[in-house]
Amino acid sequence: MAMDMDKLNAFVGRFVADFGAAAHAGMVVIGEKLGLYKALAEKPVTSAELASKTKTDERYVREWLASQAAGGYVTYNEKTQQFSLTEEQAFAMADEDSPAYLPGAFELALGSLAAVPRITESFRTGAGMGWNEHNEGVIRGCEKFFRSGYIANLLSSWIPSLDGVQQKLESGAKVADVGCGKGVSTLLMAKAFPKSQFFGFDYHDLSIKGAEQAAKKQELTDNTNFKVAKAKEYPGKDYDLVTVFDCLHDMGDPVGAARHILESLHKDGTWMIVEPFANDDLKDNLNPVGRVYYSFSTLLCTPCSRSQEVGLCLGAQAGEARLREVVNSAGFTRFRRAAETPFNIVYEARP
Ligand SMILES: C[S@@+](CC[C@H](N)C(=O)[O-])C[C@H]1O[C@@H](n2cnc3c(N)ncnc32)[C@H](O)[C@@H]1O
Repeated sequence: MAMDMDKLNAFVGRFVADFGAAAHAGMVVIGEKLGLYKALAEKPVTSAELASKTKTDERYVREWLASQAAGGYVTYNEKTQQFSLTEEQAFAMADEDSPAYLPGAFELALGSLAAVPRITESFRTGAGMGWNEHNEGVIRGCEKFFRSGYIANLLSSWIPSLDGVQQKLESGAKVADVGCGKGVSTLLMAKAFPKSQFFGFDYHDLSIKGAEQAAKKQELTDNTNFKVAKAKEYPGKDYDLVTVFDCLHDMGDPVGAARHILESLHKDGTWMIVEPFANDDLKDNLNPVGRVYYSFSTLLCTPCSRSQEVGLCLGAQAGEARLREVVNSAGFTRFRRAAETPFNIVYEARP
């Protein structure tokens, strides 16, 4: 059979983009850590000016700048030999509070890849790897990357999409944020709804410590409380709202967690489930977003679920039909898709 050279060339072309992107993750983490993007956002600079401004070595900085310009993350002016960021590049790479801040995603990628040797072995043994066993880059990257999505959507669109929840939060509600990680979602809600009380739970002690520190820094300790607790065991009753952000599929026993959530809810309460965007059928997830999620699911989500009791391993692309089964089997009577973005679907479950 004759090989189709055009198809081969197209495939190799794609590989070159992916190969560069793999190394690019490290470039972005370096650029963020050393403040290179922030300095570039201020004004156009040569490599020597950037090095002097950021107290870094010019030769390294020049090589890094070339990699960034080649990848389209930094703009190069051939005439002046200066490098700069466009408005859009600065918005995505230099402003932590931007709803499109991207460096956290690459920190998450780099941190996750550190687990490759162990996960390779898990393919043979079937062993799990808990969220708590990953390196700090995973925890920090997740916090930063998810934060921008929550800044963009949580208060403006996701909470208003739930039936009657915004009014309850405004007048004073009791909320549990389960699997809260470093409390990004909890603190955004606590700041917006000062009359409500927010309880953040996570089984990872260092994440809870981070959430407590963030609450102090943001002066939100009056209406927040963080505690190490598993989703099946967290304390408290009569919550008006229980939230789980990007973590139901990470749990070993999501049905058990859903049962506990149902028991902890007020009879008129709401469970908000934020999950990665996914269609029900594999063929419909075979796209760039699906690729991101299936890859992180292999390195993080599936091993995390496998490390816990039951080990259901929903995966990050479970899809609405499968999640509906989980939620209904726990005893919830109502379940609907309330909102969505290209990266997330928000479901509302009621007792
Ligand atoms: C992808 S992170 C999401 C963190 C946070 N909700 C956010 O959106 O930034 C998944 C979180 O689920 C937590 N987790 C996993 N299994 C858990 C369980 N059984 N009980 C409580 N937390 C759990 C992990 O420790 C981790 O913080």
